[in-house]
Amino acid sequence: MAWENELGDKLFRENMQNVAPTGIIQYYNLVIQSGSGATITDVEGKQYIDLLGSASAANIGHNHPHLVEALQDQISKIVSYDCGYFTNPTSLKLGERLTKIAPGSRARKVSFGTSGSDANDGVIKFARAATGRQYIVSYEGAYHGSTFGALTAGACDTAMVHKVGPLVPGIVHVPYPDLYRHLKDETPHDIAQRYFAAFKRPFETYLPADEVACVLMEPIQGDAGIIKPPAEYVELVYQFCQDHGILFAVDEINQGLGRAGKMWSIEHFGIEPDLISTGKSLAGGLPLSAVIGNADVMDSLGTSAHVFTAGGNPLVAAASMAVLDVLEDGHLPEKSAKDGEYAKENFLKLMDKYEFIGDVRMFGLNGGIEIVKDRETKEPDNDAAAKIIFRAFQKGLILVKLNGNVLRFQPPLVITRDQLDQVFTTMDEVFADLEHGRIELPDELKNMVW
Ligand SMILES: Cc1ncc(COP(=O)(O)O)c(C=O)c1O
Repeated sequence: MAWENELGDKLFRENMQNVAPTGIIQYYNLVIQSGSGATITDVEGKQYIDLLGSASAANIGHNHPHLVEALQDQISKIVSYDCGYFTNPTSLKLGERLTKIAPGSRARKVSFGTSGSDANDGVIKFARAATGRQYIVSYEGAYHGSTFGALTAGACDTAMVHKVGPLVPGIVHVPYPDLYRHLKDETPHDIAQRYFAAFKRPFETYLPADEVACVLMEPIQGDAGIIKPPAEYVELVYQFCQDHGILFAVDEINQGLGRAGKMWSIEHFGIEPDLISTGKSLAGGLPLSAVIGNADVMDSLGTSAHVFTAGGNPLVAAASMAVLDVLEDGHLPEKSAKDGEYAKENFLKLMDKYEFIGDVRMFGLNGGIEIVKDRETKEPDNDAAAKIIFRAFQKGLILVKLNGNVLRFQPPLVITRDQLDQVFTTMDEVFADLEHGRIELPDELKNMVW
């Protein structure tokens, strides 16, 4: 067996016996003991550089001392209390802070939850309530989460909806612009226009615009493979929304909080959204999410229409205050932008060397590296991507893939230059191993799902 870590392997298998398969995205047998900054240590003491960043939930790095201290301090006061009934100074401060850091200058209010998924359900509820309209337009390729509303709004993998229907009615999907796989000789302008025409088609055929509550969009699609649409397209959609009284909502759960080189990924487009869903890194991966929206929109739902026992509780609120301190004081969005450029240069150098790298997309420390069979046809090579991440794991990098063939590069934003250099040296070795046919996948890894 190609596994090197016996204890990890044993514990991994034990976990598979107890936890329902739906909760496990199987890659390799890593079992984590501890983490610090951009590194993770497994149960056998082996250290890895974390290029997954806990699925973009560890933007400030693992166990940041400021976060740990804030948690310890809060624990000594009160761990949790249902804020739906009675709030506390920490949760109160966080509510105010979140209304201030949302992009733009509008008056905002916030609604807390415990997962990105419930935040997107919230977006659907608030949008419907505020407009009195039923339809939601979202995107093919989107991942919005696992609760019913979020699941229905997403559209990235049939396995997610298989056997669980019926889903939520009134959600329509339109295609998301792709600057990589496009028609021959198309410019970004052509692509923006073609996809905007596709966006409008439902409105011209079966979807009355005055019955649409909101468009929900990831400004950069994460799980689809880190895909950024042309700015012109986003502007056209936003203008269409303005013209028809449709709210414009953005899912910042994966791409927000510095990940994409700005505090919020929608800032790449200079647009002020009406509703924002956020989560993941918001409390350093602890269960906290929020819908932040225009005050009048957020006032549209009455008591208990969107409230959760643990939503915004004092402990996660303390964590979130600490996360926001670290992001702001450490200028992590700016660091992400700068280091993202450095990472892009390095991946492009590797692309010069290895034909199987079809595209390098990098927006902040936030990349999708396409592994293809042929640069001309751009045919995805899922098998090669699986081999790469397996060898990377053996060499001390935690790396997974998106959409079958796209390497996911989302390290904690605190990753150092030395660590980044180590990553690129290792990736070069991994790619060379692939090129020379030196990677054999263990049988059980031949069916990696994502
Ligand atoms: C863009 C996006 N939205 C929503 C979610 C769902 O968040 P959660 O898993 O916290 O429910 C995710 C999770 O990966 C995500 O990437």
